[in-house]
Amino acid sequence: MIRFDGVSLGYGDRTIVRDIDIEVPDGQTIVILGDSGSGKSTILKGVLGILKPQAGRILVDGSDVGELDEEGLLAYRQRIGMVFQEGALFDSHTVGENIGFWLWEHTDWPDEKIEDRVRTLLRFVGLEEVIDKMPDELSGGMKRRVAIARAMAPQDPLVMLYDEPTTGLDPFTSSTICDLIRHVQSEFKAMSLVVTHDIHDAFRLGDLFMFIHESRVVLTGTRKEIEQSNEPFVKAFISI
Ligand SMILES: Nc1ncnc2c1ncn2[C@@H]1O[C@H](COP(=O)(O)OP(=O)(O)OP(=O)(O)O)[C@@H](O)[C@H]1O
Ligand SMILES: [Mg+2]
Repeated sequence: MIRFDGVSLGYGDRTIVRDIDIEVPDGQTIVILGDSGSGKSTILKGVLGILKPQAGRILVDGSDVGELDEEGLLAYRQRIGMVFQEGALFDSHTVGENIGFWLWEHTDWPDEKIEDRVRTLLRFVGLEEVIDKMPDELSGGMKRRVAIARAMAPQDPLVMLYDEPTTGLDPFTSSTICDLIRHVQSEFKAMSLVVTHDIHDAFRLGDLFMFIHESRVVLTGTRKEIEQSNEPFVKAFISI
């Protein structure tokens, strides 16, 4: 389970989003929605452990992410797959190198074992044939697939974090990426946090939904609760 216990997150003295109290049960997906700049990516940084809460605790599988020492954090991060906004591949490395990068840097695995893992991950995302291509030779949808494969490289994920995985893609490609995300969820029973602006993708992916507005969580709930909500921001958001 992922639990946010009175969490406030921000930078320096500035608080971006405050008093978050949510629980994501094992195997479930929460979709985070809110205006640009409302702190969605900031929340993912909190779960990833690269930003400590200004207040409260983020508990993942019982451990307080903010309290982990350097070694604990390293072990924890291996179990968290992060798919960054825009995919964020290393442009000067091939697809295979992008996916194997972490394994080359942080393990003493022999090259053949790394290559096997890379191929398995590429097969999983349906892209085995692009292993030697450079990122700029790929379409936007392929880049997202590679980013998802890369996020899972260290080990099968406990948690997957997706920052706007479908932004900038056409509706058909978006839908195939949503299918892939669902495939990851069902295969690994991972808990997922997905940031998106797209309410249709949100409903395709989420078990729970969290709306952030003016630095606060204005509503958390199931699709039904969201659709029945009278909260003006939520009503406006889902009617777009
Ligand atoms: N490293 C940082 N240092 C200081 N302020 C930051 C940093 N990263 C983000 N911010 C600020 O935090 C606020 C929230 O940023 P964040 O990236 O979490 O928003 P977001 O909801 O993901 O927006 P978008 O939908 O545009 O991606 C913004 O005002 C941003 O300027
Ligand atoms: Mg963002």
